[in-house]
Amino acid sequence: MPGRCLRHHQPSATSVPGQLIALAFGVFAALTALSIQPALASPTEALQQRGFELSKLHCARCHIISEKDRFAGTSSTPSFKIMIEFLKDWEDRFDTFMARNPHPAHVRLQGDGPRPDNLPATIQEVILTLDDIEAILAYVDQMARELGKQPSD
Ligand code: HEC
Repeated sequence: MPGRCLRHHQPSATSVPGQLIALAFGVFAALTALSIQPALASPTEALQQRGFELSKLHCARCHIISEKDRFAGTSSTPSFKIMIEFLKDWEDRFDTFMARNPHPAHVRLQGDGPRPDNLPATIQEVILTLDDIEAILAYVDQMARELGKQPSD
């Protein structure tokens, strides 16, 4: 039926507002879902997520910090995954990474004194708070669990 075909291409007076309302509702629903999501995440998940963001910001310059982020980092620097998988004492190493080379030259705890002159140059120094470090370690622990490891806490 030719008439039928035409009707489909010419939006009628009722269908346009209908579509607009549907669209508005869809946008509203999406926004609501977005704003509700953080409230639904457990404190642990929120901490892990923060740790992921911080790792991406501060560690991914050198390390591959997640499988999804494989193209960041430097090939000469071990990825978080490799370290968790192949270092028996990965947990201890992550707990103390601030003191392990090369980090003292690049990463400092907020509130520490001025940068010592004897350290090698860095492109951009990273300043972390204890909360930041806790979040990064929560992210690493979560990653370790996904790799079948059992963090101690
Ligand atoms: C400027 C580059 C750089 C940045 C930034 C950096 N790392 Fe590293 N990291 C390295 C290199 C290079 C090694 C390997 C050192 C070695 O093999 O001796 C390493 C090793 C490590 C190790 C293993 C240490 C050991 O002694 O076995 C841990 C854990 C680690 N990094 C965690 C982190 C975390 C967490 C961050 C972010 C807060 C970070 N790194 C940021 C370059 C960096």
